Amino acid sequence: MCDAKKESVKEFYGKLKTEDFSDSLNETLQACNRPKCGLPKRVREALKNVHEEVQKRYFGCGLCIPPVLEGCTVVDLGCGAGRDAFAISQLVGESGKVIGVDMTEELLQFGERHKEWHREKAQHKASNVEFKQGYIEKLGELGFEDNSVDVMISNCVICLTAVKEDVFKEVARVLKPGGEIYFSDCYGNKPVSKEAQDSDKLWGEGAGAMVWSELGEICEKFGLSIPYMQSASPYKFGDNVKDLLGDVIFAAVTWRIIKKPENEEKGLWLATYNGEIEEICSFQLAQNLKFPKNTPVLVHSSTVSELKSSRYSKFFTFQKVENESASRQLNPFDFI
Ligand SMILES: C[S@@+](CC[C@H](N)C(=O)[O-])C[C@H]1O[C@@H](n2cnc3c(N)ncnc32)[C@H](O)[C@@H]1O
Repeated sequence: MCDAKKESVKEFYGKLKTEDFSDSLNETLQACNRPKCGLPKRVREALKNVHEEVQKRYFGCGLCIPPVLEGCTVVDLGCGAGRDAFAISQLVGESGKVIGVDMTEELLQFGERHKEWHREKAQHKASNVEFKQGYIEKLGELGFEDNSVDVMISNCVICLTAVKEDVFKEVARVLKPGGEIYFSDCYGNKPVSKEAQDSDKLWGEGAGAMVWSELGEICEKFGLSIPYMQSASPYKFGDNVKDLLGDVIFAAVTWRIIKKPENEEKGLWLATYNGEIEEICSFQLAQNLKFPKNTPVLVHSSTVSELKSSRYSKFFTFQKVENESASRQLNPFDFI
């Protein structure tokens, strides 16, 4: 069953161009990919600098480009023809690298053919993009070692896998402590019917979506942070499949999940962002957890541990709240 699904997904994406999606799905994908708030100029430019032919084979459902990527090793899980990988290769710079993993040979070959064009455009001495053919549930087979990667991204891929847990198990193994996966995917508000999941076309378009609340349970199991939501937009299949999908509502969601460090802090903390990440005056850890420049924000020990171990740490100061009983009342002297 799992292998049959993989084969049907390969078949589906191997020949696809964006214009082949139904009108409603195309509209959905365009809406998902519209930035929810101002994208940093560097990111906009990096996206613009991707070859037109690669853009035509972009099948993502969100923007999976977190900040502070210079020098990072980034793995793109289900990279397809490489739109995100080529954009990120400009942001990691020559001291970083991007490894795109995908199981569909046609798409990877497409990426390979455009590697040199992107190297030249970025004026890099050597290409910092590598494509590997294989399964994102089996990164060990592709040589990925434990605790070896700074950042993972994934754009509309995990919903296509049969056993979601297997993907996150590998994510948790391969990320360095404090590393993050920043990814977009399709979720349902309730389980999708078996009939809908049995349709290869619907599965290929995202009907393998898990129920959003299962994601947190999986993260807890594998030592990952809670999923910090970045943005969400409606994800609509064509009207012709309404009967199969019933009353399930779908959303394209972008999340950030951080691999927890071994030792966690305790208690409550104030975390203050210094405003020094380029073009980011308010750091968004999650949609409901923002750190405006130079403003102490009260955070739980788990969040502080994740931030402290992450590459964002150097942009923050952390202060333990000594008197926890008074913690619900912020100290006005921390703000002046
Ligand atoms: C919707 S497309 C997205 C491609 C790319 N992320 C983009 O934004 O254009 C899904 C991709 O995931 C790949 N894929 C699906 N399941 C996979 C798996 N288990 N292992 C590796 N690649 C997989 C498919 O081959 C396809 O290229």
